[in-house]
Amino acid sequence: MRGDDTPGGTPEGDAGGRARIDADDLPDGLVATDPDGVILMVNRAAERLTGVTRRAAVGRLIGDVLPLRDQDGRDWWKWLDPHGGLRTRSRQPERPLHLPGRQELLVAARFVREPARGGEVERVVITLRDASARARVERSRADLVSTVAHELRSPLTSVKGFTATLLAKWERLTDAQKLVMLETVNADADRVTRLITELLDVSRIESGRVEIHRQVVDVPARARRIIAGRVAAGEPEDRFRLEVLGELPETWLDQDKIDQVLGNLVENAVRHGRGTVTIVVEPVEWGVAVSVRDQGEGVAPELVDRVFRQFWRGNGRRRGGTGLGLFIVKGLVEAHGGTISVQRAPGGGAEFRFTLPTGTPDFA
Ligand SMILES: Nc1ncnc2c1ncn2[C@@H]1O[C@H](COP(=O)(O)OP(=O)(O)OP(=O)(O)O)[C@@H](O)[C@H]1O
Ligand SMILES: [Mg+2]
Repeated sequence: MRGDDTPGGTPEGDAGGRARIDADDLPDGLVATDPDGVILMVNRAAERLTGVTRRAAVGRLIGDVLPLRDQDGRDWWKWLDPHGGLRTRSRQPERPLHLPGRQELLVAARFVREPARGGEVERVVITLRDASARARVERSRADLVSTVAHELRSPLTSVKGFTATLLAKWERLTDAQKLVMLETVNADADRVTRLITELLDVSRIESGRVEIHRQVVDVPARARRIIAGRVAAGEPEDRFRLEVLGELPETWLDQDKIDQVLGNLVENAVRHGRGTVTIVVEPVEWGVAVSVRDQGEGVAPELVDRVFRQFWRGNGRRRGGTGLGLFIVKGLVEAHGGTISVQRAPGGGAEFRFTLPTGTPDFA
């Protein structure tokens, strides 16, 4: 190892063309001690993770320099006890530990014995890993819980407010007022139901439990149906266009999920975009590609990665979405073995394009 010639950090010999590996090049922290806990080496990542320099550490007792403790405050080194235990003991699995006043570290140890099986412990090699990635996951889970709670609370607050008003002032309200309130309650109840359905989809996607039930699906026919649904709901017919380019292969897909993907993308194009919404279906080498284009502002290149994340919404916040739509769309496309991306549409606006492999029947 650079800086001090201590065992443990010695590079692999490069005889036979093997690459030299320097302990300082390792992404994880590495500390080696003798069986009494005298520190023999500390690599650069370990210096960074512990805040203790090599100079301050080497030659001193690990219990003094790196007093690692578990959640209950127990002294890890004492507990590790290299001299004690069975002679066959060779390693201590990774566990989260703390240094006073510092971030959590994931620490594992290995006993190097001489002879290797059943001999005395010669050295203890300790690895240290940053636990902040794990902490980040936990934080994002906490964020998720608070977002969900918030999203559920606003419609429920309105349901509660209007029902309370209706009950308290029933006699004094006009029919028209009652109607408006009941319509709002109805719409808010739908919103809660939709959010819960979406959350269940998200959880299925995240745990890899999306089940695809394949059948022959006529993709242009599904797109036509989605458009017809929007027109029936009152949108002008000339806002939508469907183009089928070339001969499409037979595709085995999950029809409900394809409807969900198309429905979400068309809804986004209408709600977040502007102008004509064009759906293009075309054959690709191993399946079909579907593009949903609009003529709105599009998605800025720096936001491209973000739009597919859970709960991310740009100006969507003003437009009443929850920001789960595209996360689910991506999950459903990927569950089919496909891919999705977003770019600038030829005439400006956003173009969401996904490809789906032709697939085979479930029983094949
Ligand atoms: N066609 C589009 N044009 C411009 N921006 C878009 C378009 N589609 C999506 N976006 C942006 O991406 C964000 C995330 O979209 P997503 O569908 O995941 O959520 P949402 O539409 O806001 O809510 P939800 O779909 O859950 O009701 C939107 O809030 C919007 O800012
Ligand atoms: Mg959406």
